[in-house]
Amino acid sequence: MCGIVGYVGPRDSQAILLAGLSRLEYRGYDSAGIAVIDGDGGLGMRKKAGKLSVLRDDLAAHPLADGKTGIGHTRWATHGGPTDANAHPHLADDDDLALIHNGIIENFSALRARLIDEGYSFRSETDTEVAAVLLGHEYRHNGGDLVQAFRSAVAQLEGAFTLLAMHEEHPGLVVGARRNSPLVIGLGDGENFLASDVAAFVEHTRHALAIGQDEIVAITPEGVEVTDFSGGPVEVEPFEVLWDAAAADKGGWSSFMAKEVSEEPEAVANTLRGRIRDGVVSIPELDGLDDLFAGINRIIVIACGTAAYAGMVGKYALEQWARVPVDVELAHEFRYRDPVIGSDTLVVSISQSGETMDTLMAVKYAREAGAKTVSICNTQGATIPRESDAIVYTHAGPEVAVASTKAFVAQITALYLLALHVGGVRGTLTPTEIAQHVLEIEAVPEKIQRILDRSQEHIEQFAGWMADTRSVLFLGRHVGYPIALEGALKLKEISYIHAEGFAAGELKHGPIALIEPGQPVFVIVPSPRESPVLHSKVVSNIQEIRARGARVIAVAEEGDAAVLPFADEVLHIPVAAPLVEPLLAVVPLHIFAMGLATAKGLDVDQPRNLAKSVTVE
Ligand code: F6R
Repeated sequence: MCGIVGYVGPRDSQAILLAGLSRLEYRGYDSAGIAVIDGDGGLGMRKKAGKLSVLRDDLAAHPLADGKTGIGHTRWATHGGPTDANAHPHLADDDDLALIHNGIIENFSALRARLIDEGYSFRSETDTEVAAVLLGHEYRHNGGDLVQAFRSAVAQLEGAFTLLAMHEEHPGLVVGARRNSPLVIGLGDGENFLASDVAAFVEHTRHALAIGQDEIVAITPEGVEVTDFSGGPVEVEPFEVLWDAAAADKGGWSSFMAKEVSEEPEAVANTLRGRIRDGVVSIPELDGLDDLFAGINRIIVIACGTAAYAGMVGKYALEQWARVPVDVELAHEFRYRDPVIGSDTLVVSISQSGETMDTLMAVKYAREAGAKTVSICNTQGATIPRESDAIVYTHAGPEVAVASTKAFVAQITALYLLALHVGGVRGTLTPTEIAQHVLEIEAVPEKIQRILDRSQEHIEQFAGWMADTRSVLFLGRHVGYPIALEGALKLKEISYIHAEGFAAGELKHGPIALIEPGQPVFVIVPSPRESPVLHSKVVSNIQEIRARGARVIAVAEEGDAAVLPFADEVLHIPVAAPLVEPLLAVVPLHIFAMGLATAKGLDVDQPRNLAKSVTVE
């Protein structure tokens, strides 16, 4: 939430900041702004409510003077509505200092009152302006030393924040600080960058440094200095960004979501790559870490939203293959209920961004309680993996559309690899069994591709016919249940249609009351060959809702003749083993949600009120 970028170097910073912000816009798109220090040391600033294009048009009509030092921000509003005044940057110290912020400063009211008592005034309703004014105050009390002013200011802040600031008296210097909110450094040649996410600078450099918690960084064109909040030196972790700028571009697709759905086969294939050798699962990141899995008697999966649904699918594999009891919990519920955990608990967190505050806090909580932690994450240099004992990266590539798609299939794939790995370590699977499961998973990319090639056009057309629908229900059993939840979430978040997912068996315990003539219901149908018992139960559920007038859209295996008489529409998926099925069944649901939102003329990449990477609790 909120995208942040900073630049120092020999080039005019405005174009670099705007390009960086356009790659970070997925983090928030309520308003945007930039500030630059021009050649004569003057500070220019422009900020606008609305999407980045509003700011870009305004700058094109009324340009700022060139400046080689700059900061830029794209906002997801927390304190104060999306207005020009509340947009970042915020100015202080007689408008000589500009500051941008991601996060929430929890003690802002008390600080604001104190600063007003000291004679300061405010122009916005934001917590960020309080940080700017406080920093300006400390700047004056620290003899014009911006880094020292940061140290004094952050010591007074409570909450989560990434702050970047620059001062007119120090052209060529941008200072940043972070606590529980993302910030990475990009190392260029005679120029350096700071950003919430490497996407903002990857077109200029793929050399990056990850900054730890409670650290302050000062960048100049010549170098980077990182210290902790009390001024002590710290070690920074260098890494190379594994993808190039083209991977984060729309590349001719109508939307990022369309591109990312088309990349689902690749996301699975890339997550498997290098982790399977001759039918044996070998995850290099877990080498030498068998102890993490040997003594555990319980796994808790923590995540939010779509990532939590991936976790629910993973539960079936972890329990079936590794024979460990698994609970899946929403991260924000987990840490506030005094969970019973200890050194025999493995906490597996799942996060595409690696920055979701709820998940991060739950991981920290679990570690402090003595649990072992493994993170499944899609973003290099992110905070959650750094806070975990081990990492299994998903290699889905950058996911820009707010609604998660390719990351979801990559997360399930990583969980399956983990389940096979743990099963191998604990001896609950034989090598032959592992090899058999590996074969089934390796066939997934080609099967997803087949769905895209054969059915995408038809599903999109079908979704278009349903553009006036006001409510859609989704039903599934076993691994089909989390897929029903994911289908409903995707539809509601991008098409603003009421949608709900249910366990099909739960229907008669209440939700069946919702069925009235014409109610569209998607049903995820298990394989008749592989899961005959579940299949017949789901077919019975279909008959129950059909009898009450539901319009049934079945997601069913190719050749499943049993559903045909009872379904109004069948979306076919290739034949697959039961645990592999969710990786296929979800694809038509992603296409459907995207098709329906597109037919309604909505922006599928930037749905209202949402932002990717939810870095506030
Ligand atoms: C839904 C969606 C969200 C995220 C959730 C967790 O399409 O994208 O529900 O899955 O906010 O985000 P990460 O995976 O970044 O922790």
